[in-house]
Amino acid sequence: MGRPARLACPRCGEPGDLAAPPAVCARCGTVMEIEIDLGFARPGLAERIRRRPRGLWRWHEFLPVDASRGITLGEGDTPLLNAPRLARELGLERLRVKNDTVLPTGSLKDRSVTVALTHARTLGAGAVGVASSGNHAASVAAYAAAAGVPAVVMVPAATSPAKVLQARAHGATLLAVRASFDATFALFKEALKAFGWYSCLSTNPWRNEGKKSYAFETWEDLRGETPDWILHPVGGGLGVTACWKGWRELVELGWASRVPRMVAAQPTAADPITRAFEAGADDVAPIAAADTVAQAIAVGAPSLGWRCLDAVRRSSGAAASATDAELLEAQALLARTAGIYCEPSAAASVAVARRLRRDGRIKATDLVVCVVTGHGLKQPGPVEPAPMHTVEPTLAAVEAALSKGDPT
Ligand SMILES: Cc1ncc(COP(=O)(O)O)c(C=O)c1O
Ligand SMILES: [Zn+2]
Repeated sequence: MGRPARLACPRCGEPGDLAAPPAVCARCGTVMEIEIDLGFARPGLAERIRRRPRGLWRWHEFLPVDASRGITLGEGDTPLLNAPRLARELGLERLRVKNDTVLPTGSLKDRSVTVALTHARTLGAGAVGVASSGNHAASVAAYAAAAGVPAVVMVPAATSPAKVLQARAHGATLLAVRASFDATFALFKEALKAFGWYSCLSTNPWRNEGKKSYAFETWEDLRGETPDWILHPVGGGLGVTACWKGWRELVELGWASRVPRMVAAQPTAADPITRAFEAGADDVAPIAAADTVAQAIAVGAPSLGWRCLDAVRRSSGAAASATDAELLEAQALLARTAGIYCEPSAAASVAVARRLRRDGRIKATDLVVCVVTGHGLKQPGPVEPAPMHTVEPTLAAVEAALSKGDPT
């Protein structure tokens, strides 16, 4: 277990209580952060970690929970792919795709939820809960099932039916709220106070530590080389924030020489972080999210907005947005040229990489990592499909269909 040295507000420095239930900063409302005491790192540790059984828990020294009680479904160590055909389409010589669609419940959320449920069980929580745009609900439901802890999940009523079914299949009590994600999130926070569930929200600093694993896995797979850019689809802002924190820990240990430039990739329909970045603002002002194919990241009031903006700026990165058309184009490119079927939100990293490459901010020779965060079957649909032929069970019918190429 990593030794949590301190809980503190990253914005105003207000100290927190490691023994108290997760709460935001009492002074400024920012999500608190855990500092891990990195004094555990002895020479040879990186090599020992490399030899451990695959998975996120190889890095348990960096996590603030007891790994011997870990609730795991085999998450972590997702592939870092070369994707040469996609790279050519984007005009990049050194593209890598971090394919998080293959995590146990099909999305990035498993990285944080494995730590959340471990923490919840250690505390003896009676029930866990979360408000979610769908993926987080499915992940909490699955890990809660494995832990034997009841789960209550709230999602907007318009959430993809596949994600709703997934959460229900794992036995979670699901509340479909007739409201946007931001309103669902606000309602959930009231419900938390009323019912006292263990919170798996991104305002929970223990849970958030799990997502640092992006940094460790990428660093290891690149054999210590630091990417020039890491692009991540952004809703609440945790993926970018936590990946950046992980790289800072690697630098602090002397294992990495620098931190990559972090890019927050948002849909134009819900891009408060891009707006703040472009305006040079100190903080992220909430906006009303418009309708978008990027359901999973349609967040107008990101809970880690300030910290994500901070990570982007301090790493000399960027925040940029992609239209729905660009997201669908990137989704199709991933499917057709890299063999990765992802949901539209998850393609935001690739859509924004294309944009930044076109406007010259990313150079052709830069080492670029695009994180792809959720499986296409989570929100099946609008990739323009190749033709389908419905045929009689005869070779003649097969031949006729192939020669005509007429989709039915
Ligand atoms: C597929 C997908 N990608 C990205 C994100 C955004 O993650 P974050 O909230 O850490 O910004 C989410 C969050 O729901 C998601 O479901
Ligand atoms: Zn504060």
